[in-house]
Amino acid sequence: PHDFPIERPTQRLLVVANRLPVSATRRGDDWHLELSAGGLVSALLGVKQNFETRWIGWAGVNVPDESGQKTLAAALAENGCFPVFLDDVTVDQYYNGYCNNVLWPLFHYIGLPQEDRLAATRSLQSQFKAYKLANEMFANAVYSQYQDGDIVWCHDYHLMFLPKFLKEKNSRMKVGWFLHTPFPSSEIYRTLPLRSELLKAVLTADLIGFHTYDYARHFVSACTRILGVEGTPEGVEDQGKLTRVAAFPIGIDPQRFIEALETDVVKSHIQELRARFAGRKVMLGVDRLDMIKGIPQKLLAFEKFLEENIDWRDKVIFVQIAVPTRTDVYEYQRLTSQVHEIVGRINGKFGTLTTVPIHHLDRSLAFHELCAVYAITDVALVTSLRDGMNLVSYEFVACQTQKKGVLILSEFAGAAQSLGAGAILVNPWNVSDVAMSIEDALTMKEGERNERHRHNFMHVTTHTAQAWADTFVSELNDTIVEAELRTLR
Ligand code: G6P
Repeated sequence: PHDFPIERPTQRLLVVANRLPVSATRRGDDWHLELSAGGLVSALLGVKQNFETRWIGWAGVNVPDESGQKTLAAALAENGCFPVFLDDVTVDQYYNGYCNNVLWPLFHYIGLPQEDRLAATRSLQSQFKAYKLANEMFANAVYSQYQDGDIVWCHDYHLMFLPKFLKEKNSRMKVGWFLHTPFPSSEIYRTLPLRSELLKAVLTADLIGFHTYDYARHFVSACTRILGVEGTPEGVEDQGKLTRVAAFPIGIDPQRFIEALETDVVKSHIQELRARFAGRKVMLGVDRLDMIKGIPQKLLAFEKFLEENIDWRDKVIFVQIAVPTRTDVYEYQRLTSQVHEIVGRINGKFGTLTTVPIHHLDRSLAFHELCAVYAITDVALVTSLRDGMNLVSYEFVACQTQKKGVLILSEFAGAAQSLGAGAILVNPWNVSDVAMSIEDALTMKEGERNERHRHNFMHVTTHTAQAWADTFVSELNDTIVEAELRTLR
C-alpha cells in the first residue's frame, strides 16, 4: 500500500460559448462583473467529476482600446473566464446577422431571411464570412488556453465551425459540440445556401449532442442526404470515421429553486403577490421576447378565453414577463411593438377602472422575485412555436410544491418530450384549442393537478442540469479521438 496519495492532475474542461457566464460593465478604469445564472452556468458548476472548468466566450461589450481589453481580461481570468473581443462590425455581421437573422430563424422553422430581412449592406455571403472569422477568433482563444489532455466543449449554433478550426490546430484535441436549439428537419435545413460546409465543420467533432432524439435524427438525415455519408445508430460514418451523435436532454438545478422558496426574502415576496392578486387566479408567461416563444399567439388565446368566458373576466390575471433580447435585430423590434399593441388592445377591451387582465413587463425579474411569482401561479403558459428545450417549464414545476398548478406546454418545445404526461400539451397555432386548455387548466380538480404535478416534479428533480453535463462530459471523455485511433491501427 502507498503511504501517500498519488497526485493525479485535475483534468481541465474548456467550455466555449458565444457568451461568457459573466457580463461586464465598464466603470471608469475598472470593470464591474456580474454572474449570469443561465442554465449552462449552473449545469457546469455541478459537473461532479474532477474538472477544472475554464470558459471562453465573447466579452459581450465592445472594448476597442488595448488597455481596456487588458484590464477586462485580467478581471475575467480571476473568474476562470477568457474573453474573445469582437468589434462592432463583426458583432453586427456574425451575431446579429448570421447567427440571429439566419441560423436562429432557420433552425426554428421560420426559414431563411427574404431580401427585406437582409439589410442592404449585409449579404448572406458577407455574414457567412464574418461568422467563419468570428469562429476562427474563438478557436485562437481556445488554443491559447489549451493544454494536452484538456477536453473542449463547444456550445450552440454560433460556433458550428469551431470544431473544425480546433482540429486543424491539433487533431488530437478532444472536441464536443452541443446544440441548444432544435435541429430542423432536413427539408428545412437544406434550403441553407452553405449547408454542406457547416455540416462538414460540425462533423469534425468527436461527440455531437442535441436536446431530443428528434433533433439528433434530423441532423443525421441532413448529413446523409446532403453529404451522402452513412447514418448509423451510433451517429454518422464517413470513410470509416464515426462521429458519435446522441440526445442529451438538459435540465435545471432544481435545488436552487426549492431552497430559494424557503428563504425569508422569497416568502415575503410571495405574501405581497398573494395580497396583490387576492381573489383572482394567476396565469404566468416568462419568455425572452423572441418570435419563437409565440407570445402574440398566447395573448390571442387569452383574449379568446376572455371573450368566451365572461364570468372569468375579473377572476383571472395574466402576468407576462417578456425579457428583451437581441434588440439590434429588426425582427425583434417589430415583435416588441406587435406584443405591446395586442396587450394594449386586450387591456383596453377587458380592463376596468381598477384593474386590467394582463400585467405585462418588458424586463427580467430578480431571481427571488421570479421564484415567488412561479410559486403563486395557478397556470403557466408556454406556447413556443419552436424551442430547443424550454427550461421555464422546468423552473415552474420546481416551484410548485405547494400549489401544484397546471402547465400548458407547446408540443413544439423540446420539453414536451419529457413533461408531456404531466402538462396539457397544445398546438400554439390553434388559438381556440389553447383558449379551451386555459379553461381546463383553471378549472382542473385537485386530484388531477396533484397527479400531473407529481409526474413533472419527479422528472425535473431527477433529470438535472448537473446530470446532463456529467453525462455529456464523461461520454466525450470516453470517445477515442480519430487521430489516436489512427496511431493504434
Ligand atoms: C438561446 C440560445 C443561447 C443564447 C440565449 C440568449 O437559449 O440557445 O445560445 O445565449 O438564447 O440569447 P442571446 O442572443 O441574448 O445570447
